[in-house]
Amino acid sequence: MDAGLSGLLLLLCALPWAQGAKVLVFPMEGSHWLSMRDFSRELHARGHQIVVLAPEVTLHIKGEDFFTLKTFPFPSTQEEYQQNLLGNAKKAFETQGFVEVFFENLAALRNVSELYANSCAGLLHNETLIQQLNSSFFDVVLTDPVFPCGAVLAKYLQIPAVFFLRSIPCDIDSEATQCPNPSSYIPRLLTTHSDHMSFLQRVKNMLYPLPLKYFCHISFTPYESLASELLQREVSLVEVLSHASVWLFRGDFVFDYPRPIMPNMVFIGGINCANRKPLHQEVRHRAAA
Ligand SMILES: *[C@@H]1O[C@H](CO)[C@@H](O)[C@H](O)[C@H]1NC(C)=O
Ligand SMILES: *[C@@H]1O[C@H](CO)[C@@H](O)[C@H](O)[C@H]1NC(C)=O
Ligand SMILES: *[C@@H]1O[C@H](CO)[C@@H](O)[C@H](O)[C@H]1NC(C)=O
Repeated sequence: MDAGLSGLLLLLCALPWAQGAKVLVFPMEGSHWLSMRDFSRELHARGHQIVVLAPEVTLHIKGEDFFTLKTFPFPSTQEEYQQNLLGNAKKAFETQGFVEVFFENLAALRNVSELYANSCAGLLHNETLIQQLNSSFFDVVLTDPVFPCGAVLAKYLQIPAVFFLRSIPCDIDSEATQCPNPSSYIPRLLTTHSDHMSFLQRVKNMLYPLPLKYFCHISFTPYESLASELLQREVSLVEVLSHASVWLFRGDFVFDYPRPIMPNMVFIGGINCANRKPLHQEVRHRAAA
């Protein structure tokens, strides 16, 4: 058989796959889901088959005609969950001092992340559900790593992962993609520094992320334990997240200070503007000034 013909045959064999992949979407709750929903709708419109995996109890994730919704148990009722989330949001605005806000949020974060981690453990330990997912032969898992359950699942089932996120705290993305991330040049969250820092600013730049590191430790450790248990060896979150083939960031260097990135990190901030509205008059004046 000549090369042209075998090439054509290969193309024909590949076509059905190229036309429609099986995509397992594992979203993060709340506003995170809104742009992922638009993205999933577009994937569906392009002929891909979408299954959305979500907890039974959510604020925004509801069944729709462009995907199949698969749910797993969540250890809280809708009322409790809403109260928990909304109560916490209110507190964040009520309290004044930084230290107060920090400890208030810490308690709240502990609460909510425990709920999420427990639901994730329930999912990953549910053999029936895992077998169903495994035998569905998904081509890719599309997930927001801020809720790392989807990333753990993708690694466990050995399915390629595409991450879709605004950001993930504690520079875990830089670590997982092995990007250079020196704190002497890269301004940290909330410091309002630029890449030109005095000595004292660099010190502040190194200290600011520390409380956040503690947040991350609390919220992410359960997923490391889960991954280690399932894969039967010590696995860090960084290793779980380094499984991603592509990182799609819903951001842009217009909002965030530029930083070194790897070729599999793509900025798609424009996707947040799917529902455009004209700028407010005042904003337009300021932009023009
Ligand atoms: C944590 O959850 C418990 C039970 O759901 C609730 O009573 C408590 O107020 C919550 N704490 C915070 C700080 O949200
Ligand atoms: C496991 O998953 C199946 C299928 O989604 C579900 O019907 C069942 O209730 C789950 N079992 C537990 C113990 O959560
Ligand atoms: C998924 O199925 C494959 C066989 O197709 C099997 O080798 C693998 O162990 C299964 N993975 C899990 C996590 O059950």
